[in-house]
Amino acid sequence: MAEPLAETATRAREALEIKHVSVLFDGLAAISDVSLRLAPREIVGLVGPNGAGKTTLVNVLTGFQKPTKGTLHLDGADARGWSPARVRGAGVARTFQAGRLFKKLDVLENAQVAGIASGLSKAAARRRAQDVLEQVGLADAHDKIAGSLPYTDQRRLDIARALCSAPKYILLDEPAAGMSDSECEELMGIIRSLPAVHGCAVLLIEHNMHVVMSLSDRLHVLDGGRTIIEGLPEEVQKHEAFLSAYLGAEVAE
Ligand SMILES: Nc1ncnc2c1ncn2[C@@H]1O[C@H](COP(=O)(O)OP(=O)(O)OP(=O)(O)O)[C@@H](O)[C@H]1O
Ligand SMILES: [Mg+2]
Repeated sequence: MAEPLAETATRAREALEIKHVSVLFDGLAAISDVSLRLAPREIVGLVGPNGAGKTTLVNVLTGFQKPTKGTLHLDGADARGWSPARVRGAGVARTFQAGRLFKKLDVLENAQVAGIASGLSKAAARRRAQDVLEQVGLADAHDKIAGSLPYTDQRRLDIARALCSAPKYILLDEPAAGMSDSECEELMGIIRSLPAVHGCAVLLIEHNMHVVMSLSDRLHVLDGGRTIIEGLPEEVQKHEAFLSAYLGAEVAE
């Protein structure tokens, strides 16, 4: 049976989307005319050299940075000018490049606070926190003080906290930074499971090419604040502009 037209139209609008966004800092462009769409349950890799504008773009998508030009829509609603709390309440969660844990609270409390901040009752937030910690492999560490965790577990707790608001879109800013190969593999398992287990789409910023190429359905490459290539990972990695912009910078580091 054909799907009713109204449902088709609603599904077509479902996305976290920016169009023609520019961000200027003191007259200098950090982002220039970038358009990006994250649809439900897809994994999009956002890559580019240091200073390319990746974190600035995440800030725009989460209400932390108002674009100088361009539009932001969340499931069809005009979200330009929304506060970070309103964007989060509408289903968009993020992690921060430097991490933002409550270092003196324990692991369960850190996750629970994130659930409460997204509107859950204390009891519901605790239950959700327990579930999420189990899924990211931190259940056994629930009573450890967050600041005492090994670095990689702190990054996992970052992701758990973001998941506690039951997001439809989750934006991860370099989650594998500082991880060993085996820790990366474990993290990749968690990220790969996010669409099926948590029903969320993922925007993955990652410098580790193995991680981002293996996980992403599509890649979006920025350089100097501009989109230089978009496409399937296997297409992008053969692209000359990608090799010179991204790998060129990596080799030079
Ligand atoms: N609040 C700010 N004020 C002024 N300039 C900024 C600000 N935030 C970012 N920038 C500049 O904007 C550009 C893009 O920075 P951004 O942090 O978005 O890059 P990035 O791709 O996330 O880099 P990295 O890989 O190092 O995390 C850089 O030139 C940076 O110095
Ligand atoms: Mg960054």
